[in-house]
Amino acid sequence: MYDIPALDLPPLGGASGTVTLPGSKSISNRVLLLAGLAEGETVLFDLLDSDDTQVMLAALRELGCGVRASERECRITGLGGRLRTHRAELFLGNAGTAMRPLAAALAVLAATQGGRFDLRGVPRMHERPIGDLVDALRPLGCTIVDLGRPGYPPLSLRGEAGGQLALDAPIRVRGDVSSQFLTALLLALPLVAAERDVVIEVEGELISKPYVEITLNLLARFGIGVQREGFQRFTIPRGARYASPGRLHVEGDASSASYFIALGAIAATGGAPVHIAGVGSGSIQGDIAFVDAARAMGAEVKAGPGWIEAHRGRWPLAAIDIDANHIPDAAMTLAVMALYADGPSRIRGIASWRVKETDRIAAMAAELGKLGAAVVAGDDFIEVRPPAQWRAASLRTYDDHRMAMCLSLAAFNGLAGASRGAGALPLRIEDPRCVAKTFPDYFEALFGLATAAEPDVPVITIDGPTASGKGTLAAAVAQALGYHLLDSGVLYRAAGLAAAAAGTSPDDEAAVARLAGTLDLRFGSHAEAGHIEPKVWLRGREITEELRHETTGLLASRVSALPAVRRALHGVQLSFRRAPGLVADGRDMGTVVFPDAPLKVFLTASAGHRADRRHKQLISKGIQASIADLRADLEARDARDRNRAVAPLKPAEDALLLDNSDLTIEQSVAQVLSWWQERCPLTRALRAQAAASP
Ligand code: DC
Repeated sequence: MYDIPALDLPPLGGASGTVTLPGSKSISNRVLLLAGLAEGETVLFDLLDSDDTQVMLAALRELGCGVRASERECRITGLGGRLRTHRAELFLGNAGTAMRPLAAALAVLAATQGGRFDLRGVPRMHERPIGDLVDALRPLGCTIVDLGRPGYPPLSLRGEAGGQLALDAPIRVRGDVSSQFLTALLLALPLVAAERDVVIEVEGELISKPYVEITLNLLARFGIGVQREGFQRFTIPRGARYASPGRLHVEGDASSASYFIALGAIAATGGAPVHIAGVGSGSIQGDIAFVDAARAMGAEVKAGPGWIEAHRGRWPLAAIDIDANHIPDAAMTLAVMALYADGPSRIRGIASWRVKETDRIAAMAAELGKLGAAVVAGDDFIEVRPPAQWRAASLRTYDDHRMAMCLSLAAFNGLAGASRGAGALPLRIEDPRCVAKTFPDYFEALFGLATAAEPDVPVITIDGPTASGKGTLAAAVAQALGYHLLDSGVLYRAAGLAAAAAGTSPDDEAAVARLAGTLDLRFGSHAEAGHIEPKVWLRGREITEELRHETTGLLASRVSALPAVRRALHGVQLSFRRAPGLVADGRDMGTVVFPDAPLKVFLTASAGHRADRRHKQLISKGIQASIADLRADLEARDARDRNRAVAPLKPAEDALLLDNSDLTIEQSVAQVLSWWQERCPLTRALRAQAAASP
């Protein structure tokens, strides 16, 4: 997951392959609440693990529900409709799917069983309306105190034990601002339907109806058969009780699927489609209807149970004019697909965009405008005319996961066609971490499917002598930019270890080269290692520790002097150059392997400083060593690396020298990042645009 202030995307080209979607947010938070209110244990599979579900899980724990979560399943032991805690302060982030239903459930529980529950969120949550829900609950006898601006969170829900609710008359709720108010009532009111039917009537035209369908569907799974007359009147039958279904599988998120359907429509141009696993035909999520809209724009989409496949059909895409009231979230993806259309597109019926994570109409208009599109934003529609000339841009995401995911699709601008200007421009996505709300690994998934032309993928090379700290520096720079990392020394070290394991002499050039050409190395992810250096396996054997031994370094120094070995490892090194970018460290990254890198750093430090650092490193691992010996060793190795005939250690002509003898790691990282800000493709593109405009 990218926990960085900004992520630069190079121009992306084709796309194909399989993505497995995270669980649906709408389903996850509904079933969590239902399981929390039900009697007994519910085991949930493929639950979404994201910011929004984390706040719901934390709230359930606060309320005394049993919560046992592992990677594969989440076990919730519910309250059985009886409060265990009568006082709690719950922080619900920016999760509307937690705030609205919990407010309703805790309002009726406090009013009948006594208690005080204060619900808060992030500042944006306090700007998202909840007044219609409060107005529906107060006439029943619920005590709801505004802790801030009336009609918005934070709220306090209070009551005395033994309180009675007025449930004889139908409960009236407005449905034209957010369908979540109705959903909240439907989820909460079975708590008080033991002795009588509870009737809810919707005032005004209900928006986002498919989300209410999800609610009804899941209530049925928990044993509550709501009767309804259209979308006007809903009856929770007398005697309703939440009955756990025991086990429940959460579908992949259909809104998240929209980005990959769009990806296929835009970029799956070869034989292979983009295959989406986790959601498909028969989904209970309304956003599955996005498939029809994508088809209307010319996408070729197939679907079966639990899967969707998308491929480019018509190109450019067909402009669309659509009432998207039924797919408000996925409709954002249409607005970005409209950039690739053959004329202006109009997306109507989206007033609810204005009260989501951000004012999405305003946000989308501003950011698509930066890309060169002509955008008209109305109260409840947006019209997007594709760019006549695309522009590179740094795009704001407004702490809105969907803005970040949608806007990433603009990185395919190079496919928009020569008639539309230069094309192939880089983009910057600000605050990419906001995708954690529903899809923490979105960008990893995107880069797993999308390809970029090699020259478009930026590389930063960091070369230097042994123990200059280049590995640490390169890893920190890669992490700060969200780029891939190539520690090329590891390849030579692994080649040395492979030779040793095979009983091959490190001087047998042909034999070592053969081994180097078929290394079968596997790298763990940073997250898996929980550490800046990922774990490494050689032919299934973990060699993370062994790689760092001094003897391994000496072996590497010998095998790396063999030209055939260097040739054998060349292609492997190039294969690390993948979107969004690469930081490569070694001896010849800037001179031989990536001669076109826009930033080349040559790290130096005096032999004394380096010997000192290596000594500290060894001592910290409990290994005794003499500084004088270490220094002699380093100098011998430097001499060999510098004087060998092939790819000798030396700065590239255009390298920037960084002597870090007296710098902390943080200072070195800051220096490299500031050099990068000057030279990175986005800065260059923005400067070129500024120079070209009058
Ligand atoms: O950076 P390191 O200490 O892990 O490198 C181990 C050896 O591999 C070192 O003696 C030089 C050699 N090497 C190389 O020749 N070319 C590279 N790009 C990286 C390392």
